[in-house]
Amino acid sequence: MRQAGRYLPEYRELRTQAKNFLDFCLNPEMAIEATRQPLRRYAFDAAILFCDILVIPHGLGQDVAFREGEGPVLEPIRTAADLDGLEIDAVEDRLAPVFETVSGIAEGLDEKTALIGFAGAPFTVALYMVEGRGGTEGTNVRRWAAERPDEFSRLMDILCESTSRYLIRQVEHGAEALQLFDSWAGLLPESQFRKWIIEPNRRIVEAVRAVHPDVPIIGFPRNAGVLYRDFAEQTGVSGISIDASVPLDWAARELQPLCTVQGNLDNHVLLSGGALLDSEVKRILDGLSDGPFIFNLGHGVLPPTPPAHVERVVELIRNGA
Ligand code: CP3
Repeated sequence: MRQAGRYLPEYRELRTQAKNFLDFCLNPEMAIEATRQPLRRYAFDAAILFCDILVIPHGLGQDVAFREGEGPVLEPIRTAADLDGLEIDAVEDRLAPVFETVSGIAEGLDEKTALIGFAGAPFTVALYMVEGRGGTEGTNVRRWAAERPDEFSRLMDILCESTSRYLIRQVEHGAEALQLFDSWAGLLPESQFRKWIIEPNRRIVEAVRAVHPDVPIIGFPRNAGVLYRDFAEQTGVSGISIDASVPLDWAARELQPLCTVQGNLDNHVLLSGGALLDSEVKRILDGLSDGPFIFNLGHGVLPPTPPAHVERVVELIRNGA
């Protein structure tokens, strides 16, 4: 959940050396360094590849840029003709620097620290591809999926295929676990969630497992509510990352019998720190430690978060708060 990123002064310093964020992600030397930075400060059990979910649209040939203060900007895909321009077979070559980064991180990592690779899940990546920017409610992508589902399926097929190949390559280069980020899953009503969230995530899990049967895969259908349960059961993921709104007793009862649960500290509580942070960390440890569990956030670290608050969380967990 952005363990590397703008809350770290050393990241902000490194970031000034790249002209844009995509160049940064596709520069192995810089991406390796960004991945390692948080590990120097904190006793984490895992490193997560430094990259972004929007390298897939770039790999498919879509124009992707990150503008300062504005976030991602893409040349929107809206029609069947736009789909014809996407090049699945170019993805692995265009994203070769990411695989080099994975190898470089894996080489320098001690045995005890796991390396997590990742990708965006199809609906979340499609949202950015269709809207052309962040900060939207996904009206265009939701209309496309509802009004011309057969055509939208083609986009989802392209994303399932390219994402599967991309993740398989990450494992070949040294990723020991994978996470699929479906950050906008919670926008969809139940029927659409089953079709555009559960089914594509299931297909990717199946495709990756066909090549690497034992690799742990963590799903993150953010804000899925009670549908986290069917997601966990039907996709075949080994772990599920839950947002901060999920009650712990529900997660322990409904999810931990199915797979490992990862979560779910609120990123704003982490930002604020103090007594509430301490009590929330303790509540999560008490609530989930009887089953398979990975301590994590419910969503990404916010840029103004004091690094000392992250330090405090690690200390509380290590001392068995
Ligand atoms: O966790 C990590 O340390 C690994 C790195 C990582 C980044 N993005 C780096 C990043 C991961 C796992 C992501 C995933 C990602 N990217 C998601 C899914 C997770 C989530 O947060 O919901 C999404 C939706 C994106 C798309 C994205 N990338 C947006 C909308 C933005 C702009 C918003 C913002 O916070 O600036 C980004 C940029 C981005 N990705 C940054 C980082 C560190 C900040 C860019 C910068 O340094 O200028």
